[in-house]
Amino acid sequence: MPRPGGRARGRYPRGVTSPQRAPGGFPVVGIVGGGQLARMCAAPAAELAISLSVLAEAPDAAAAQVIPSAPVGDHTDLDAVLAFARECDVVTFDHEHVPSDVLAALVAEGIPVHPTPEALRFAQDKLAMRERLTEIGVACPAWARARTADEVEAFASRVGWPVVAKTPRGGYDGKGVRVVGSVAEVRDWLEAVGTEGPLADGLLLEEKVDFVRELAVLIARSPSNQAAAWPVVETVQTDGICTEVLAPAPDLDPTLAAVATEAGLRIAEQLGVTGVFAVEMFEVRDAGSGAAAYVVNELAMRPHNSGHWSMDGAVTGQFEQHLRAVLDLPLGAPTPREPHTVMANVLGGDYPELYPAYRHVMARDPGVKVHLYGKGVRPGRKIGHVNVSGTDLAQLRERAGHAADYLAGVITE
Ligand SMILES: Nc1ncnc2c1ncn2[C@@H]1O[C@H](COP(=O)(O)OP(=O)(O)O)[C@@H](O)[C@H]1O
Ligand SMILES: [Mg+2]
Repeated sequence: MPRPGGRARGRYPRGVTSPQRAPGGFPVVGIVGGGQLARMCAAPAAELAISLSVLAEAPDAAAAQVIPSAPVGDHTDLDAVLAFARECDVVTFDHEHVPSDVLAALVAEGIPVHPTPEALRFAQDKLAMRERLTEIGVACPAWARARTADEVEAFASRVGWPVVAKTPRGGYDGKGVRVVGSVAEVRDWLEAVGTEGPLADGLLLEEKVDFVRELAVLIARSPSNQAAAWPVVETVQTDGICTEVLAPAPDLDPTLAAVATEAGLRIAEQLGVTGVFAVEMFEVRDAGSGAAAYVVNELAMRPHNSGHWSMDGAVTGQFEQHLRAVLDLPLGAPTPREPHTVMANVLGGDYPELYPAYRHVMARDPGVKVHLYGKGVRPGRKIGHVNVSGTDLAQLRERAGHAADYLAGVITE
């Protein structure tokens, strides 16, 4: 049912409509943040007659281009978020940056929020995440909180230089992650400790993990505690940014696959995560036995780049699953449709014109599925991805890589 009170109406700019509910008792799902993750919920929402409303950063935000109800507002502005949320049956997120007092206000109004603020905290703050995972016995890299140069030195003398330093809050795509060989290289971050901002409570330091490869476990969990896990995938990062995902992770030790999935499900349950949830992991070799093992890198409580393959490669894609989960509907099958799916990200290059590339990409390979986000091209920015499924992994990687590179303008034939 629509929430009473038209207080929100005045906040909708001219030309932007309030969410329109489909006849037949269908709900409105509100998404805070108008990036590509919100945008990619639009297609499955339309199929299921679920209405979306997006609190967008700008009228031309990625999601605002395709979702008619997209009031513009700041996710840190309590009044804007409340006015937006009052017209929705459930609120979820495109990113993890909504401040806890704003989240608390939504909960206080009785608006269902998924993931809940209690759970979201562990995806918002990497120090809180490390503390909690350590508490529940999940394997992590050696880590410490550092507020001073002495604490950085002490940690480095324990694990050896270089160490990985992270800003606990606000980082993404490798921004906020530094591999450092001396205290001098984090001096500026140490100076920000204790002041307001992402470094207020100190830096997160981690040992530099000598990993075999990076994996991700993607799970959906509903408020009724139903969970579904997609197969563990391999993610390839270049300069800290994900460029390719192989689903499932090729030649993954079946025991590690089971153990990593179990860890993901356990974390989701213990932290009370609702919605789609990603656990980024490093695959390592046990120092003693040489057996394949994992340590957790970080958590994301939303649809995730490591799950984009599922849009075309699984019976239920992550965006549909996220909607089902936050609405507490039964979850769909996460089963792959083909033996392999390769996802390649399209990163912005120097060339701003994207549409002309369609002719070549589509003609060369009709099996490639293109997803672009309606975002302006900036070098290194994620502006889209492609998926391709089949049986020959090496060939799929070539096909996906070619399409992504051509769209980005990296190659011209
Ligand atoms: N402790 C570590 N050891 C080795 N590499 C790391 C470590 N932490 C992060 N990285 C590398 O940096 C990338 C980005 O780090 P991450 O913590 O996931 O930040 P972001 O929030 O930007 O995704 C990881 O995907 C991995 O490639
Ligand atoms: Mg990451």
